[in-house]
Amino acid sequence: MPERLPGDEAADMEGAGVSDLVLKTLFEGIQEEIMVVDADLVIRDANPSFLRRLRLPKEQVIGRKCYEVASGFCSEQACRTDVCHLERARKSDQRVEIVNRVFDRRRERMREIVRLVYPVRGQGDASRYFVQITRDETARRQLVRRVKASQRKFRIILETATDAILSLDADQRIIHFNDAACRLFGYSRREVLGKEIGLFIPPQQAEDYHELKRFLSAKRPKHLRRPLSLSALRKGGESFPVEMGISYQLIESEPTYTAILRDISEKRQMEKKLLQNERLAAVGQTVAQVAHEIKNPLMIIGGFSRQIRETLSDEKAVRKLDLIFEEIGRLERLVADLGDFTKQYRLVKKPTDINSLLKEVTGVMSALHPPGKFRFVLEGGAEPLTILCDPDKVKQVLLNIVGNGLEAMGEGGTLKLSARRERRGARIEISDTGRGIPEGDLERIFEPFYTTRHKGLGLGLSICFKLVEAHGGDISVFSHSGQGTTFSIFLPGA
Ligand SMILES: Nc1ncnc2c1ncn2[C@@H]1O[C@H](COP(=O)(O)OP(=O)(O)OP(=O)(O)O)[C@@H](O)[C@H]1O
Ligand SMILES: [Mg+2]
Repeated sequence: MPERLPGDEAADMEGAGVSDLVLKTLFEGIQEEIMVVDADLVIRDANPSFLRRLRLPKEQVIGRKCYEVASGFCSEQACRTDVCHLERARKSDQRVEIVNRVFDRRRERMREIVRLVYPVRGQGDASRYFVQITRDETARRQLVRRVKASQRKFRIILETATDAILSLDADQRIIHFNDAACRLFGYSRREVLGKEIGLFIPPQQAEDYHELKRFLSAKRPKHLRRPLSLSALRKGGESFPVEMGISYQLIESEPTYTAILRDISEKRQMEKKLLQNERLAAVGQTVAQVAHEIKNPLMIIGGFSRQIRETLSDEKAVRKLDLIFEEIGRLERLVADLGDFTKQYRLVKKPTDINSLLKEVTGVMSALHPPGKFRFVLEGGAEPLTILCDPDKVKQVLLNIVGNGLEAMGEGGTLKLSARRERRGARIEISDTGRGIPEGDLERIFEPFYTTRHKGLGLGLSICFKLVEAHGGDISVFSHSGQGTTFSIFLPGA
């Protein structure tokens, strides 16, 4: 347009080139306001959008100085200073862009106006013109600000979420991985972006992986009705149970999957504990009644048998009665053990050095066995490790577990005991090099009356469980068949 200046209003359309026509249509139809001024800041042309805003006919605008029709800070004084963008373009002969924030009185709000000034030269003469294009950017800039704010909010939610959240693209590659996910899986964002979700599933859990893949490929339903329970894999190779909710959305017609994962190891452990407690409670009640019923008749049988034995002279009959005494003794021990098992423990807590307890237990147990058969190793026990607990009950737990460990090393072996301070308590570990516990049996060893020993009652570990529980601690076991067993006990009270 400016090439045809000055006096282009008079340009006759006949014979005008197609590009002139296009330019004219643009000039007339465009929403942006266009004003053309000469080097003296006299308005030489203006498009309908510009005139509409001024509410003036073209005749009253052309030939006037731009500051006469402009609003705001424009004035004759200001227009020859750097405050004026036209003046800046004039001086520099460069494109100038400015943003004016103008208060719109009618709508009572700020408007953001972008002004672009292009210096141009007239065709065939050296006169300079300046084309000013003015655009109201209020709505667009507000939209951009709103989008940015909502992106920020979304990012904050994502990063403060305690659950791991990750998104996958159409190729099922990771595109988002929040901070909680980094903490849960032990990977940095850089290590996982672009990788496949299979990275987090243990290779031995092929079924879990296929189930997930099935969901991702089916894309139906959009949300899983129930979370998937899966085994997940940390960077270090440790697997742990998770619950995973997953959904897929079409974002800009691209499928995007979002998965929320929660570590449920603690929940699983609580469920196990609860089940164990329920079992103990149910069995305990029956056992308490039976023990009570057996106790009195046993006393009577024992008492009278002793009296009869005094009167007997037949050696054979005396030997038979001695066998009866032996069996009565066994039954009495059983009743005492049952009493231990069903008892509601009342703890007598006092400051106790766990390391001394471990020393005491190893002393007693090694004295009970032939020297050299077992090697007892006490680790890191030089410093006292004092916590508040019931020393007799803790000793009972240790004796039970050490007893089991020695029993599991029939041919001899090493029994290792160690204790260390942990946040708010102490952790004791007892490991043996015995036959180990097959995986299927691990679930059952704390059950009352579960035993694999010929002469065992199967009460030792369930009593230990109750005693540790009474302290508010926990007990767990790690074992592989043929590779020894480790019991880990946490006792609070530091
Ligand atoms: N260290 C261990 N190594 C291998 N198996 C073990 C070990 N500790 C416990 N077990 C298994 O757990 C079972 C239950 O142990 P628990 O102490 O409750 O009963 P028990 O030793 O059989 O009988 P008792 O009532 O006399 O203690 C054992 O029979 C054994 O199979
Ligand atoms: Mg035992």
